[in-house]
Amino acid sequence: MKNNLYQEFNNIFNKEAEYAYFSPGRVNLIGEHIDYNGGLVMPCAITFGTYLLISPNEDGVFRFRSLNFGEQQDIAVQASYEKVGENWFNFPIGVIDSFVKEGHELKGLDFLFYGDIPIGSGLSSSASIEVVTSFALNDIFNSGYSKLDLVKLSKYVENQFIGVNCGIMDQFAVAFGEKNKALMLNCDTLDYEAVDSNLGKYVLAIINTNKPRKLAESKYNERVEECQTALAELKQELDINYLCDIDTDTFKKHQHLITSPVVLKRAKHVIEENDRVKLAAKALAGNNLDEFGQLMYASHDSLRDLYEVSGVELDAVAEYSKTNPDVAGARMTGAGFGGCAIALVKGDAFEAFSKGVTEYYTNKIGYAPSVYSSLIGNGVGLLAEVVI
Ligand code: GLA
Repeated sequence: MKNNLYQEFNNIFNKEAEYAYFSPGRVNLIGEHIDYNGGLVMPCAITFGTYLLISPNEDGVFRFRSLNFGEQQDIAVQASYEKVGENWFNFPIGVIDSFVKEGHELKGLDFLFYGDIPIGSGLSSSASIEVVTSFALNDIFNSGYSKLDLVKLSKYVENQFIGVNCGIMDQFAVAFGEKNKALMLNCDTLDYEAVDSNLGKYVLAIINTNKPRKLAESKYNERVEECQTALAELKQELDINYLCDIDTDTFKKHQHLITSPVVLKRAKHVIEENDRVKLAAKALAGNNLDEFGQLMYASHDSLRDLYEVSGVELDAVAEYSKTNPDVAGARMTGAGFGGCAIALVKGDAFEAFSKGVTEYYTNKIGYAPSVYSSLIGNGVGLLAEVVI
């Protein structure tokens, strides 16, 4: 792919690319919808990602091209930028806007993007494109940001420019990911540890439901608001900043403060999920993949029943997985409302799993999922150093 990309750049811009970068996508092993509640999450970077080739130009223009999308955009270097419809190039434009607003002087660039993350599948193609763009600008213009600054800037773009009130997990994972490691990230303090994701005889399967994710953004923002309501009500008796500042026992003592039954369910998921991540970390450290798998199933059930972000498609993957003795556990990953599920599958049974889940899913849903066996890869960097 790498070589073809350079050729494509040449064909499009009639010159050589001077810079090349890569940023991965991510899956989250456990700890869902709790990053914006100050919780613990366990994502890892995957080997699918966004490639970005760049060459400076003397025309005072940013040119955006993609091998995935027909839409392209040329935009003059200016003092501030606006979102243009729902186009893919809003992500890099949002990053440029943030750099400029923070006082960095940028010059014209020709950009070529290519992504092999299935788009809109919940594997963080948007965080990947934000982080690769901010990493590239920081590198080319010596803007002096740390990697954590770039993560925060990219999250800001998603929140303010794109309009999704996401937490920090995705941008953090695609920036700090490490080969064969999962990140245990505390989303309150941003302390993290890269832990060996020693899956033993298991491999990580990614099952893309191929369901178009309509309404995902508005439903996502609705969940964020419901959590804010729960927090405000609990604060009448508790001195806390986030829902994840309390454990399940403390929650039980104060849950009467929450007036809406729906909001109560949301808060229960958040607080129990945070406790589950702590148990999952212990299980992983002790190589107890069976226990880890059970926690994955419990997480899925809670996302389906309490948080209500699953759907028949994601549920079908979890249902099938439970019937297959070679699967330790499975769950939806990411925001939900379609997108991807993950499963821990015995390595020598992967092909049979792939066939089995495809059959079950297709019979139930009416079209096929895509099933991948995923490797855990590195975070953002120079293409030559990250993709080997
Ligand atoms: C999306 C968001 C993340 C996180 C997950 C759910 O991927 O971008 O910040 O909230 O959903 O865990």
